[in-house]
Amino acid sequence: MATSLSFGSTPGDDPAAAKYPNGAKIYAAKCIACHQVSGMGIPNAFPPLKGSDYLMADKKRAVEQVLNGSQEEMIVNGATYVLPMPFQVDTHKDAVDVINYVLNAWGNNGGSLKLEDVKDIKIVR
Ligand code: HEC
Repeated sequence: MATSLSFGSTPGDDPAAAKYPNGAKIYAAKCIACHQVSGMGIPNAFPPLKGSDYLMADKKRAVEQVLNGSQEEMIVNGATYVLPMPFQVDTHKDAVDVINYVLNAWGNNGGSLKLEDVKDIKIVR
């Protein structure tokens, strides 16, 4: 399988997991069911995080999304997604950690956010 990237078990194989271990742990526990080990999602249901133009366009929006979920239609790499995403984490720190992980996993080169960058995001559920 081409999906042999690992999460935490052998961090040496996954530089993003070595750099953001808490983020990798959260990804494996919460995001993987929909966005998959590969970060490619499921066509017509769950959008990709690997190489996502939507993610790279606004990193702070991604942090807000894992804190509050999202229900709007979105276009990711030219495809439209309409399913809602439930909120995933309860703290700004976990949200930043997991987004920093996905910004750098699977060959993504998305940089990173600091906790100070996102502390004005309100948790609204
Ligand atoms: C129950 C399935 C599910 C889970 C679990 C889930 N997501 Fe999502 N995700 C979605 C769906 C559906 C969308 C599109 C939402 C919309 O259209 O409002 C989405 C969209 C996104 C997007 C923006 C679109 C893109 O592809 O760039 C990001 C970023 C994202 N999710 C990150 C995460 C992270 C990080 C986690 C784990 C902390 C996670 N998601 C967990 C289903 C899920």
